[in-house]
Amino acid sequence: MWRKERMPRRQALRPIKAMLSFIAPHRKWLAIACIISIMGSMVSLVVPYILRSIIDHDIARGDFVRFLSDIVILTSLVLAMWILETLNTYVLSSTGARLVCDLRFKLFSHVQNLSLGFFSRVRTGDIMSRIMEDTGAIEEVFVYGLVAIVGDMIAFIGAIIMMSSMSLELTLVVCLVIPLALAVCLLFGSRFLRAYREIRKKVASLMIKAQENIAGIRTIKSYARERDAFISFDEACRDMMKSNLRAAWLAVWFWPTIQMVRGVGSFVVLAYGGYLIIRGSITLGIFIAFLSYLDQFYRPIISLTWLYDSIQRAMAASERIDELMREAPEVKDREEAIELKKIRGEVVFEDVYFEYQKGIPVLKGINLKIRPGERIGIVGPTGSGKTTLVLLLCRLYDVSRGRILIDGHDIRDIKQKSLRSQIGFIPQDTFLFPGTIMDNIRLGRPDASDDEIVQVCKELGIHEFIESLPNGYQTEVGEKGFLLSAGQRQLIAVARAMLRRPSILILDEALSNVDPRTELLLRRAIERIMKGRTTIVIAHRLWLCSLCDRVVVIDKGRIVEEGTHEELLRRKGLYYELYLAQMEKLIDEKLLRIRPIRPS
Ligand SMILES: Nc1ncnc2c1ncn2[C@@H]1O[C@H](COP(=O)(O)OP(=O)(O)O)[C@@H](O)[C@H]1O
Ligand SMILES: [Mg+2]
Repeated sequence: MWRKERMPRRQALRPIKAMLSFIAPHRKWLAIACIISIMGSMVSLVVPYILRSIIDHDIARGDFVRFLSDIVILTSLVLAMWILETLNTYVLSSTGARLVCDLRFKLFSHVQNLSLGFFSRVRTGDIMSRIMEDTGAIEEVFVYGLVAIVGDMIAFIGAIIMMSSMSLELTLVVCLVIPLALAVCLLFGSRFLRAYREIRKKVASLMIKAQENIAGIRTIKSYARERDAFISFDEACRDMMKSNLRAAWLAVWFWPTIQMVRGVGSFVVLAYGGYLIIRGSITLGIFIAFLSYLDQFYRPIISLTWLYDSIQRAMAASERIDELMREAPEVKDREEAIELKKIRGEVVFEDVYFEYQKGIPVLKGINLKIRPGERIGIVGPTGSGKTTLVLLLCRLYDVSRGRILIDGHDIRDIKQKSLRSQIGFIPQDTFLFPGTIMDNIRLGRPDASDDEIVQVCKELGIHEFIESLPNGYQTEVGEKGFLLSAGQRQLIAVARAMLRRPSILILDEALSNVDPRTELLLRRAIERIMKGRTTIVIAHRLWLCSLCDRVVVIDKGRIVEEGTHEELLRRKGLYYELYLAQMEKLIDEKLLRIRPIRPS
């Protein structure tokens, strides 16, 4: 569980309520399955009755005609049971498949709508295990368990009624075994719940390990840490195996014990029933019917315990699903939120404070007014809050205090979708989805035609570059765009942003990891896309600032300097220091390149 707090007792019913809400949409088919299951049970109740009639009447009296008709009835009953069973299995499997598909979809779309804060708090593997694994446990208990138990309960009650009508005395003796069976279930129940809760957690941590080690494979390989990854995965695997073994150990004791209780039941019928025959209180037919009713009698006890066991598993799963469902997006559209038409692109930060974690402010009183079409460079040491500032502007988080205005509208009064459609965001590292270059650019505006995309690329001057790729615009990029270098991925990001024709453009250190070969191309594309747009450039390369109308220097969440590139250099403050440091680095790099030619 990602929340540390414990559930109050009052909320213990919550997982059950949650489970019911998950199956509610499928209740019609579940009800049909229940009816089929009940019909099956009723049919099976008649079978021992016919058996008794065959033995006590037909055979005992030598009534051949009735014997034949009873055999026909018996055969048709068995046939009916077979048909009902087949029908039931079909309805259940298809309902189960639909339910789990629905539930996964519901969870996934819920997760998609959550705010960024959630994803920095919760690990991907944990979310995946809830969507993939826990949903399966719900399917198992509701679809297979619950329906079976309805039919079994009918069989149980029917069996008791039928048995009592034949011999009350023997029925009472058989019933003596019920408390024994219940005691066994109670003894094991809570232990099973604990074991299954633990397994669910271990499944999640295994998923987390697998996901993180695969997602980080480049880093792992480049630092030759495969062994560490292997060891940590192995540990998680073993941990999970231990939990599984603990549950298996419980099962090892549980099932034979229940079988034993059942054996006791059969023994009672044999012994006491035999005694009653000798005493002349019951007939042989009743004795045989009782033995065959025992099956109906014990089935619900066994399936109850089985169900109890899988209910525990499903409760543990449902707690985790419910927890995920209760995560509300932190950033929400207000009821009266408006759509923005084309905007001028004025941006105002008014006394903006922000904290990711309570009590640790990352931005402390930012005041900044950006005129429409103005280019603002944002500079500052790592961790000073630059990225946070632009994430707030996109409203990926809500400010903790103060407000942000676009064309005079508080961004919290604007529909998120409408707000974001006005903004072109080029992040530091661009994620490419599996698919073609064309598809990846189209992400900027899904309704854009191929021609529009080509047009945009021509405007940006990257058309030739894309055409030079093996399949041009139709070149497939790998899962993480491995085929393209960081700089080339940034070109795609610029095209994506341009496709929206945004009024506000944000570049977050878009040039920092770029290879020299692509840099020129990217620089030109960026200069073109900036034209006539309000632009916020988080600049790692300070030369970018010389393209800006104004530069803002941020340190520890505060604006410490403001002015043009030249003004700031003259002021010899933090900006000047950063500039010097970068110059030194550049000179170092040059020297390094020169060294082999002129060895000292
Ligand atoms: N998701 C997050 N959760 C908690 N703290 C964060 C998160 N993202 C960034 N921070 C912290 O906020 C501060 C500012 O981060 P950031 O805005 O990314 O800085 P910059 O872009 O200037 O390098 C840093 O101290 C960073 O550790
Ligand atoms: Mg940053």
